[in-house]
Amino acid sequence: MTLIGLRDDSVSVRVAVPAKINLALAVGDLRSDGYHDLATVFHAVDLHDEVTVRPAARWSVRTPGFSDVPGGLKNLAGQAAKALHALLTSRGSRPTPVAIEIEKKIPVAGGLAGGSADAAAALVACNALWGAELTRDELHEVAAGIGSDVPFALHGGTAVGAGRGELLSPVLTRMTLTWVLALADSGLSTPAVFDEFDRLREIAATSGGSSRSATGADPDSVVAALRTGDVDDVAAALGNDLEPAAVSLNPALRRTVRAGAEAGALATLVSGSGPTVALLCRDPDHAADTASRMAGSGTCRTVRIASGPVPGARIVGRGH
Ligand code: C5P
Repeated sequence: MTLIGLRDDSVSVRVAVPAKINLALAVGDLRSDGYHDLATVFHAVDLHDEVTVRPAARWSVRTPGFSDVPGGLKNLAGQAAKALHALLTSRGSRPTPVAIEIEKKIPVAGGLAGGSADAAAALVACNALWGAELTRDELHEVAAGIGSDVPFALHGGTAVGAGRGELLSPVLTRMTLTWVLALADSGLSTPAVFDEFDRLREIAATSGGSSRSATGADPDSVVAALRTGDVDDVAAALGNDLEPAAVSLNPALRRTVRAGAEAGALATLVSGSGPTVALLCRDPDHAADTASRMAGSGTCRTVRIASGPVPGARIVGRGH
């Protein structure tokens, strides 16, 4: 039996992990496990949380300055660390508990997978701290058990996602996409947005319309556009089936989306389950101009300029 991770709180591992946007999100049927089948294109952008783990006598998760982030093991980062701990324990190791500290830059409940990103970061950090040397594939398995977006946060880049989002195929592209992210005052709950999606689809079906979502979000078109390297093609291909549901739950988003178009963005897109609105721009100058127009529009809390793709969770510091 190996004892891994010294009870020495001067030892630490720090991991940076990016936010994600879904360039296309097509929602399929509700499955018997309560999840929906998805066809999506994930895209990691350079808005990062940083997660630091150190050995401790007791498990803890702290997010200084954020009272609305779940603490302790309600936090996905804590759940991820515990899941990895359980796996290693089942293999005969004895990793120490850890204290996890999260420095949040990714908005909470914003549709940018911040909680999932923190879980991925905790896995990479604990894997290193405990010297466990799990491969990326093994970490992927643990990540998929924590949440649908967690595997992508491990890998980063741009990737097609299938299943409930956990089955990933990388998309190789030389394109850098520049975004303005319009952040909202309050968050949206992912399960609530999926429930609203089901409700709207049911109404459409019973009123004789298509039972499929009408947004026509199409991952294949996005991948084809990324291959052409033409940002206007990418702009034309973006789409999100969850957007009508997010707007239905937070009607103020309609104004944000309209303001984005008026500010000159090439395309506007609610990110994931929202409410963050992503505005695609031609280049960094165009993004700076669009960001200042959006900031003055009064339709969002604040704006961030971001670009992608960027790598997934990676170690940025170790303390001794
Ligand atoms: O996987 P994760 O825990 O992040 O998902 C949160 C919730 O979002 C799920 O409990 C489910 O209600 C909804 N969801 C879904 N279909 C997916 C992913 C998430 O219905 N593919």
